[in-house]
Amino acid sequence: MKEPRPFLVGGERRRSEKILDVRFPYDDSLVGTVCLAGPTDLEDAVRAAQHGFGRTRRLPTHERIRVLKRFAALIDDRKEEIAGTITQEAGKTAALARAEVERAVETVLLSAEEAGRIYGEVIPLDLTPATGGRTGYLRRVPLGTVLAITPFNFPFNLACHKIGPAVAAGNAVILKPSSKTPLSGLVLGDLLVEAGYPEEAVSVLPCTPDLAEWLVRDGRIAYLSFTGSPAVGWHLREIAGRKRVGLELGGNAAVIVDEDADLTYAAERIVQGGFSGAGQVCISVQRVFLHRAVYRECLEMVLERTGALRAGDPRDPAVDVGPMISEEAAAAAEEKVKEAVFDGATVLAGGGRDGTLFAPTILADTLQTMRVNATEMFAPVITVTPFDDFEAALAMVNDSPFGLQAGVFTNRLDRAFHAFDECEVGGLIVNDIPTFRADAMPYGGVKASGMGREGPRYVIEEMTEPRLMVLNRRG
Ligand code: SIN
Repeated sequence: MKEPRPFLVGGERRRSEKILDVRFPYDDSLVGTVCLAGPTDLEDAVRAAQHGFGRTRRLPTHERIRVLKRFAALIDDRKEEIAGTITQEAGKTAALARAEVERAVETVLLSAEEAGRIYGEVIPLDLTPATGGRTGYLRRVPLGTVLAITPFNFPFNLACHKIGPAVAAGNAVILKPSSKTPLSGLVLGDLLVEAGYPEEAVSVLPCTPDLAEWLVRDGRIAYLSFTGSPAVGWHLREIAGRKRVGLELGGNAAVIVDEDADLTYAAERIVQGGFSGAGQVCISVQRVFLHRAVYRECLEMVLERTGALRAGDPRDPAVDVGPMISEEAAAAAEEKVKEAVFDGATVLAGGGRDGTLFAPTILADTLQTMRVNATEMFAPVITVTPFDDFEAALAMVNDSPFGLQAGVFTNRLDRAFHAFDECEVGGLIVNDIPTFRADAMPYGGVKASGMGREGPRYVIEEMTEPRLMVLNRRG
């Protein structure tokens, strides 16, 4: 077995005695080991970031763009190796892991483009005799140190959604990767330094949750960007003090299939959105509302496609659905399914698990109050419910503590716009599943699903602040 992987403090590789095992979720075999950062390392990383920010905030735009393009090229060069790491540590299928790295390259290139579009404003201030001769000159300046806390489900691209914009804006970055998937995050730190970003401004700190909380409380951190579970996210917001916070949390995403929809396409997309990544996506299809006129037909298509899915070892290219991240996560999902069945739900597909491998599951006859609907499953489990009236379907979409994204399959423009007016979500996807995400788009939720928006253009706004200079044209 290789030496434990060092972490990164202000560009310097450090080792420690505390070692974290990284395991393959499919069979629990050891993938690698990582040194865990301790309190001194965290303090050093924050201080280094403060020094580093003194350099990064002065980097000209062309230099930040150059670093980001080089960063993207370095990721691309190591695409296959990084995808392999993601499969090993997150249990993602080979195809999904590769797609994630390709998206990450795109996310970083989008950040490079946006670095050149951080515009300001010239504001006339001579609106009264008393302010005559004055003009306001406004430009956006970077905030300082960005703390990025990332999840296991997209360990690489979601880190790039935080690092890319932070660099585009000229901030220092401290990345705290998920303890399940620290290996790909450590690669990102190395590549960002190799790309030429000032070393002190780059730290990657696998550490225990209590130490991560210490960072969140630290007043020297300017911005916390967290992606993960709602419970943890809202807790971090409580303890974050005065710093800005962006939260990308979970959901129980709904999709409506109206009577005029293209059923073949809808069924194909629902199966993909419900089961890919073993349902461990914040915008996984969870609640499916089918118009009663097409309920049987659409459901049969969904069942047929689900039956054709192969669950198994994610390294096997023929496998569609890999393992869940851990036995605990799979057991928690199984308990919710069993509870629903006890309360009257019918299992139409799957329903059980073998260790971390959870069979793609479809439940009917559920109530919106059951935990399979009312909580985030984060598992390959969907529920199907018929509706008679579009308004009732919209009401069920909104009958949720969450509001990340929703999907509506309809060919009626009036219904699409009506759903857009009524759905309490960050994004409505028309004629597709809620699982759709383009990396350029504003992405984030309302209600318990979070606050703020990601997507390089939108998060750069959060990671910068306006600074005003008033010019007095005397005489
Ligand atoms: C998430 O799970 O929030 C990320 C989804 C994605 O980027 O596709």
